[in-house]
Amino acid sequence: MTESANSPLAEDIAEILIAEHELQARIAELGAQISADYRDRDPVLVGVLRGVFMFMADLVRQITIPISVDFIGITRYGPSTRTHGVVRFVKDLEINIEDRHVLFVEDVIDTGLSLRYIMRSLETRQPASLRICTLLSKPRIRLFDLDVAYTGFVLPDKFVVGYGLDYDERYRNLPFVGVLDDRAITRQRLPNSS
Ligand code: IMP
Ligand code: MG
Repeated sequence: MTESANSPLAEDIAEILIAEHELQARIAELGAQISADYRDRDPVLVGVLRGVFMFMADLVRQITIPISVDFIGITRYGPSTRTHGVVRFVKDLEINIEDRHVLFVEDVIDTGLSLRYIMRSLETRQPASLRICTLLSKPRIRLFDLDVAYTGFVLPDKFVVGYGLDYDERYRNLPFVGVLDDRAITRQRLPNSS
């Protein structure tokens, strides 16, 4: 155990999968790439609350071109840690994305079901372009073609927490991505929020 090893939260972590310095180094690369690719395009970065807040905050600080930032809020229907891809918008965009270059920023893509639903909704607003940037991707077989332009890290098929990601609304404030200890899971209720 390295960073924050002495904190009560970090005691629940069985394994750190991506350390803080690894996250920051990769995010710097993504920011440089996005800055080059979107030069003179004035892109809108769109994130889904709440899991993406930390990645979004660090990513935009590594982008050196003019951008706008907006968020949507969704509620996922479906029990436990898995979603069934049915989502309801509880907070919509405030920026009009018609004819804008939109980069959709995700924390983690698992089945990709909720992402498909969201992308379809954004496409109906006729952006000039719509691409996906995800910090984490699980190598699960996706149920449809998902073209992801930027991927930070590919993860094993494990439930992870930290760096914005929660288990039952906890652990979002850990500065690294880790796997929960089994004891922490049995101690708490099953999660159901994004
Ligand atoms: P998908 O529709 O299966 O791709 O679900 C993706 C969403 O489920 C993410 O945006 C997260 O909110 C949540 N999720 C998926 N995997 C994890 C995980 O390992 N830890 C925390 N949340 C996760
Ligand atoms: Mg969640």
